[in-house]
Amino acid sequence: LSDPSPPLRRRRPEYIPNRISDPNYVRVFDTTLRDGEQSPGATLTSKEKLDIARQLAKLGVDVIEAGFPAASKDDFEAVKTIAETVGNAVDGDGYVPVICGLSRCNKRDIETAWEAVKYAKRPRIHTFIATSDIHLEYKLKKSKDEVIEIARNMVKFARSLGCEDVEFSPEDAGRSEREFLYEILGEVIKAGATTLNIPDTVGITLPSEFGQLIADIKANTPGIENVIISTHCQNDLGLSTANTLSGAHSGARQVEVTINGIGERAGNASLEEVVMAIKCRGDHVLGGLYTGIDTRHIVMTSKMINFIILRRGRSLWIVKIRYLTTCGLVSQVEDYTGMQTQPHKAIVGANAFAHESGIHQDGMLKHKGTYEIICPEEIGLERSNDAGIVLGKLSGRHALKDRLTELGYVLDDEQLSSIFWRFKSVAERKKRVTDADIIALVSDEVFQP
Ligand code: KIV
Repeated sequence: LSDPSPPLRRRRPEYIPNRISDPNYVRVFDTTLRDGEQSPGATLTSKEKLDIARQLAKLGVDVIEAGFPAASKDDFEAVKTIAETVGNAVDGDGYVPVICGLSRCNKRDIETAWEAVKYAKRPRIHTFIATSDIHLEYKLKKSKDEVIEIARNMVKFARSLGCEDVEFSPEDAGRSEREFLYEILGEVIKAGATTLNIPDTVGITLPSEFGQLIADIKANTPGIENVIISTHCQNDLGLSTANTLSGAHSGARQVEVTINGIGERAGNASLEEVVMAIKCRGDHVLGGLYTGIDTRHIVMTSKMINFIILRRGRSLWIVKIRYLTTCGLVSQVEDYTGMQTQPHKAIVGANAFAHESGIHQDGMLKHKGTYEIICPEEIGLERSNDAGIVLGKLSGRHALKDRLTELGYVLDDEQLSSIFWRFKSVAERKKRVTDADIIALVSDEVFQP
């Protein structure tokens, strides 16, 4: 069972834009406000973005990708406000997050991104261009040489504006030809890029493949030792967390993630999963890796995102109900109830610390480490005194007896047996047996508290 006490096991190393100051430190780049916002129905207002950015700073993320300033006037204003406020709120340890703005590889986007982020103490421009054959042929209609030329010139241009921290992403790197990747990455390093982000844009790679991609880039790209390698894994095959960890194992020292894993299509690697995996297993199987995240803020941050998205989902839902009612298609409304984290979501799902089967409940009542690897308090979840035990049809006598005692009913074995079988038949009818159901069962008998 993990240790809930010290939130940061090691001190965050000194911030240097273009150098790894501690080889085991993994920087957490949160893109909830940019890639996360690309989830259908998750558009955020400037005020919501600012609130989330403040919460992300409490969590201690190293980089906040606040948006895509050239995409809209609203996004520009949101990124600028975050840069001016959150990007200047240095804490007592000297921590302040890098504020980053996304841009395509063109001068207008890059200038706009710089205009928005330059107010931060640590501003970053993140520029990208696609490198896979399919994107070059159908989307960009450009040759590889042309794409190299654009990338090199645009990274130089970003640096020429006075930005010392420039991240470059070869979009769809997961499907790009290796030799071409080494070449373009080597060129942007020479042009002044400080972080090279490797996106598996369509989430197609398997963990071993993605790990090998990072290892190959590390071994074959000229000048790579002077920059930080980053991962950006989409979740189309449900492998984004595994791929991110595999990338970190192979040498990436920045991970791009979102709260609750929200993002385009099936989403991104989720911050809470990646961070907790590094915290739980960093020492044992990841060669001593660690992050600077204060994990006690994880649950609060996750709930905040859910709440905001649900609120947005509801207004979307109302519009859709109106539309569907007009079209006579009301039965489809269930498809449009917005987004919520699924109950079995790792770390932050409602069931992540709930135990239903009798065998597990018995184990939990004897020692919490039998079926839990994380202390709920460590992620900011207050444990009720029921050890996460959910009474249902699979529950055993031990759990029922324990709940009865908590409710103030002390029964002998014969009384417990009588209640137990009646409890089972209630549980077969209902999904969950509540305290009120148990009190009703006991009150039907002669047992009184
Ligand atoms: O998925 C992707 O390729 C991206 C890049 C812009 C990093 O979001």
